Amino acid sequence: MTHQLDLDFIRAQFPSLTRAPTSDWAHLENAGGSYVPTQVIDLVTELFSHAKCQPSWDFGPSVLATDAMDRSLRVMAELFNADPAETHFGPSTSQNTYVLAHAFRAGWAEGDEIIVTNQDHEANSGVWRRLADTGIVVREWQADPVTGRLDIADAAALITDRTRLLAVTHASNVAATVNPIRELADMVHAVGGRIVVDGVSYAPHALVDVKALDCDVYLYSAYKTFGPHIGMMFTKADLLDEITHQGHYFNAGISSTTLTPAGPDHAMIGAAAGIGDYYDAVYTHHFGATDAGRFARTAELFELFAAHEENLVSPLLSFLRGRDGVRLVGAPDADHTVRAPTIAFASERRSSAEIYSALIDAKVSCGHGHFYAHRLVTALGLEPGDGVVRLSAVHYNTPAEIERALVVLDAVC
Ligand SMILES: Cc1ncc(COP(=O)(O)O)c(C=O)c1O
Repeated sequence: MTHQLDLDFIRAQFPSLTRAPTSDWAHLENAGGSYVPTQVIDLVTELFSHAKCQPSWDFGPSVLATDAMDRSLRVMAELFNADPAETHFGPSTSQNTYVLAHAFRAGWAEGDEIIVTNQDHEANSGVWRRLADTGIVVREWQADPVTGRLDIADAAALITDRTRLLAVTHASNVAATVNPIRELADMVHAVGGRIVVDGVSYAPHALVDVKALDCDVYLYSAYKTFGPHIGMMFTKADLLDEITHQGHYFNAGISSTTLTPAGPDHAMIGAAAGIGDYYDAVYTHHFGATDAGRFARTAELFELFAAHEENLVSPLLSFLRGRDGVRLVGAPDADHTVRAPTIAFASERRSSAEIYSALIDAKVSCGHGHFYAHRLVTALGLEPGDGVVRLSAVHYNTPAEIERALVVLDAVC
């Protein structure tokens, strides 16, 4: 039993990290999509092999499918300290916000106000901004054009008694700085508004307690967090009574269909439970058996992950901070309570495309551009096509992988 993160054990769970043809890449594009552990892969294989049919009937394969989907609902709800009735699977976060915007709009009047940021991924921005065409007043909470960070005082100045919604990211996929969600929720709730939080870039790095955050909607994409390519939403219990049903008309009143006009692949829903199975395997390896519930034991695990991630990206951040002509977006330090280990930067000397190419030549998986945070990258004064270079770590990355990137950056930045 060890309380130091056992990277060999961790990496052994991920075939992409240990087997050809991918294992020689240093995967630092996790904010785009993380690798999946065997626990998820096994469930996909099992469900495609034996339960690829319509759930909810009484024949054997259908029962297997239903049980797998119900288990996923329970596991994911437990991981976010939510109830299964507050948990919804959808095809993706972008699709989920599209549905949400329709669901909210019918309850609002012309002249009602919403607040969006220019720091968010477009998934939690564009769908809300489009409501301006229907008479909703859209106010923009703007990030600092130098650091890319949001100041809560600016949000306070935008809130009025007509504010119906604040759509904000927990941690941007480019600026990566952690926003104070609970404080924002309190501010918006004080005027009777709601808060929709994009947790896609935050959830791979910290356990999320949707009750403690008091958010009305928490958005999550399982494929960034070691799971299949589906989205999820956690909605506060009373929200479903306020928004308009988006499923088929004859299902109105069935709350599990309110935000589900179309669901993702059933097998992928079932396979999401593999995320919890993976966390369990890692937990047991490090801490042994326990009676603690899933949320408590996963919280303990994420403390280990966070400490490792801080150690990983500290040298990278310190290199970028100390390099003349390099501009780091977001908070300068690795402290996980302040930033996610997603590091975006641009150099005065080289285009982001050139730096990206050099990293790719060294087999460092990464990307460059705006990463759909188009408004943020533009507000930073960067040409969005070239944009920033982004290196994003998760707990399975190694110091040697970061070192590989650093050698390249030292030569080209
Ligand atoms: C912060 C953030 N929000 C939302 C999304 C959109 O998620 P999805 O691909 O599930 O629509 C992404 C995807 O890159 C993201 O990084």
